[in-house]
Amino acid sequence: MCGIVGYIGDKNASPILVEGLKKLEYRGYDSAGVAVYDDNKINIRKKKGRLAILDEEVQKNPVKGSMGIGHTRWATHGAPSDINSHPHCNGDCSIAIVHNGIIENYMELKEELIEKGYRFLSETDTEVIAHLIDYLYDTDILSAVQAAVKKLKGSFALGVMSTKDPGKIIAIRKDSPLVVGLGERENFIASDIPAILNHTRRVYLLDDNEIAILTQDNVTVLDKYGEEVGKQVFKVDWDAADAEKGGYDYFMHKEIHEQPKALRDTMTSRISRENDDIVLDQIKLGKEELEEINKVYIVACGTAYHAGLVGKFAIEKYARIPVETEIASEFRYRNPIIDEKTLLIVLSQSGETADTLAAMRQVKEHGGRVMAITNVIGSTISREADDVMYTWAGPEIAVASTKAYTTQLVCVYMIALHLGLLKETITKDYADKIREALLRAPEDIEYVLKQEEKIKEFAYKNFKVEDVFFLGRGLDNYVAMEGSLKMKEISYIHSEAYPAGELKHGTIALVVDGTIIIALCTQEELFEKMMSNIKEVKARGAYILAFAQEKNKAIEKEADEVFYIKDTEDDIASIATVVYLQILAYYLSVARGCDVDKPRNLAKSVTVE
Ligand code: G6P
Repeated sequence: MCGIVGYIGDKNASPILVEGLKKLEYRGYDSAGVAVYDDNKINIRKKKGRLAILDEEVQKNPVKGSMGIGHTRWATHGAPSDINSHPHCNGDCSIAIVHNGIIENYMELKEELIEKGYRFLSETDTEVIAHLIDYLYDTDILSAVQAAVKKLKGSFALGVMSTKDPGKIIAIRKDSPLVVGLGERENFIASDIPAILNHTRRVYLLDDNEIAILTQDNVTVLDKYGEEVGKQVFKVDWDAADAEKGGYDYFMHKEIHEQPKALRDTMTSRISRENDDIVLDQIKLGKEELEEINKVYIVACGTAYHAGLVGKFAIEKYARIPVETEIASEFRYRNPIIDEKTLLIVLSQSGETADTLAAMRQVKEHGGRVMAITNVIGSTISREADDVMYTWAGPEIAVASTKAYTTQLVCVYMIALHLGLLKETITKDYADKIREALLRAPEDIEYVLKQEEKIKEFAYKNFKVEDVFFLGRGLDNYVAMEGSLKMKEISYIHSEAYPAGELKHGTIALVVDGTIIIALCTQEELFEKMMSNIKEVKARGAYILAFAQEKNKAIEKEADEVFYIKDTEDDIASIATVVYLQILAYYLSVARGCDVDKPRNLAKSVTVE
């Protein structure tokens, strides 16, 4: 989390920095700042709050100069405040830095520096780095940064500049993302590509411990031993417009509507009606290697974890291999059993989530094989995995994940079918049936999108509600978890998801007259069981909003309101159903006056643990 940018060239730096930060605001929006070099001086503007406040400040008090660094913050050490905002400086502000990550030994370093007479202004871990570079400065800024990072424990992506050694920006990363943009007589650094896409499509994707030295005309990249690295230029082939709102009020709304196309993009070239094969491009895992695998873990965070739960269902059902799906921050600290017969599947939209990355490295260290499903081409996870499957959903900007999730679902189904066919645990006819249903999923979503107005009406009628319960069985239980997370994160309504059969073991005590229950009843096989559970909560006064396949009209006898998805295979029903829940969360958030795309306390890319 946190976004950093840097510019060195012949244009005025501050508008370029602020524009870049706007594209990175999804990474954190507690405060923002820029530092610009001019006439042997570093001028800083930084403000608590959204980027718009900094933008205003820079308009009122412009900073001129053609070299600078900028930052948008998600607070970790020290509350959001002007003083804790980045950039941070050494005592005489001859060195300025921006940082994304966490310095774990900052207290120790801070005490040492205080003993040496350094004075600290902020509560951040980052300020320690500025003073440390100052302390270690001898002849030039590059050596000082190289010496300083040797003393740092934790994760960092850093942008550094100094009046003592002007005309260059130093950038380095360890466990936090950072790219270098290559322009004509200008160069850039950024946490993520959209920040610089209006200026260049040619980038270097820095690897861990690589350090880049940017001047106006040149970029040199060194490894941790100081040896020059011959970096490959990565050419970005998607458009800046893909990362714009395109007429929608919010990115989330746009991304919800992009799902039919995103799903088609995910499937085209991998499965089709004409071709029997499921072509999983970069997945090299063959029949023989698969025979060796006796354990599959699926590890992820947040929404991606919910897609992982569906992955467990699908792989166990089709390929008959035991699968455990776990939250990455738990998996990495519980000493899981891993050996060369272990396959780890990681799911991550950004491909940068710190805990997911750490879990993946742990499995690799113990000899396991790693398959990644990710959306961001060139992300750290995609580069370190043995096999990669891209979701090809296009840039997802809203903090609440939508199209990344549904494309992840499609990917886990394609993988499960592929494994099932390789292991011959499903017949070709069965695989064809599921494949047909998957190929219809974009149309199923289009059908749901046509019901948007009715969901909006429900949301506007009920937006003052404070507690909502989601119930489901089997796959519907996983959809319930995702629907509940969406509602919590963007509308701040307290909601809980429960396996419908488990409710009466405690939580039903919370159901009173008028409690809204969202009942997911899309699983034909479990339909009757769900009907009984609905009756139980209805008898306690609950108001039931149900979701079912069109063929199950019997639901109307029990539910107060029903929304249908088109008839499909039970296994595929979650893909369309979740879209209803995304729309519901979206309109509840709008009706409650929340900032849909930037919910409080959250960030899209969680690069600290
Ligand atoms: C954050 C985001 C979620 C996302 C999760 C995992 O919490 O707000 O939307 O699901 O991180 O991110 P990843 O990039 O690994 O999918």
